[in-house]
Amino acid sequence: MNILALESSCDETAAAVVRDGRELLSNRIASQADEHRLYGGVVPEIASRRHTEAISLVTREALEQAGMTLADIDAVAVTYAPGLIGALLVGVNFAKGLAQAANLPLIPVHHLRSHIAANYLVYPDLKPPFLCLVVSGGHSHIVRVEDYTRFTVLGRTRDDAAGECFDKAARAMGMPYPGGVHLDKAAQSGDPHAFSLPHPHVEGSPYDFSFSGLKTAVINLLHRAEQRGETVNINDLSASFQHTVCEILCANTMKAAEQTGDTTLVLAGGVSANSGLRAAMEQACAARGMKLYVPPLSLCGDNAAMVGAQGYYEFLAGNTAGPDLNACATLPIE
Ligand code: KG4
Ligand code: ZN
Repeated sequence: MNILALESSCDETAAAVVRDGRELLSNRIASQADEHRLYGGVVPEIASRRHTEAISLVTREALEQAGMTLADIDAVAVTYAPGLIGALLVGVNFAKGLAQAANLPLIPVHHLRSHIAANYLVYPDLKPPFLCLVVSGGHSHIVRVEDYTRFTVLGRTRDDAAGECFDKAARAMGMPYPGGVHLDKAAQSGDPHAFSLPHPHVEGSPYDFSFSGLKTAVINLLHRAEQRGETVNINDLSASFQHTVCEILCANTMKAAEQTGDTTLVLAGGVSANSGLRAAMEQACAARGMKLYVPPLSLCGDNAAMVGAQGYYEFLAGNTAGPDLNACATLPIE
């Protein structure tokens, strides 16, 4: 089954063709990051306008790269939630038009489910059930993937998402948007023990996260240094920050694994590109005899290939939509 998949939930307009949920036939992404960088973050209205401009071309490119026309496609999958509402609506409307014109089934896909499914494209042996840490710019979840379309959330962030926290700390350190990747690079030549930062816990919820206090600690530390005319070693601060975030993510995930008894852990979402997180999770999994699956860097961030992968399993579960499909800014993964 060939699925044409579309993604427009944030600032990447993407289209891909995926066969049977596992085989990537094409993958095109038009990123708007350069434009949003001027404003230090994603400007929702600009995002919607750029998606509108890019989506037809990106779709045509994805079909061409796969050596296909619409006649070779069996269904259209699209991200419909969660995300920026105006941005999502562009993809949803385009997918609806396409599905209706070509008389194809329309498959709505949850963005976080698709981040998890990115792993199916590269690990043929990976099958649910497994435990998953989904860490993106908007969400941080510890999820038990019971089956391809059945999820149980064990832990979640109470405030900022991990990626958001990376981006805000990076911005305070003068790095361009999106700062996570720059902070990761700076951290690689810093001392992770140079600064002692708080490890916020959520009372009574051992798997939940709270990152806003950590972000505030970094901002306050920089302000205090500025007031005293002192310079802060940005590499050291980046390394200390990254080390702290990864310790928190790792500790809670391992606690959840102990409870569920899962021996397979999967990472997903933009922050799974982080070198410190990958290393910490590798170490933690090796120490417990757990198997770790990490998406390749090319599939960590937003893309449509992962939508095609999850879309296949949604289709098998009968989760298709009619012409009244709408987008949702927020929607639980379960
Ligand atoms: O999953 P994603 O592409 O978009 C959302 O669904 O939100 O995640 C984007 C997030 C951004 O916050 C970005 O800074 C972060 O992932 N990110 C990283 C790295 N690469 C991307 N954070 C830390 N280290 C990285 N190497
Ligand atoms: Zn995402």
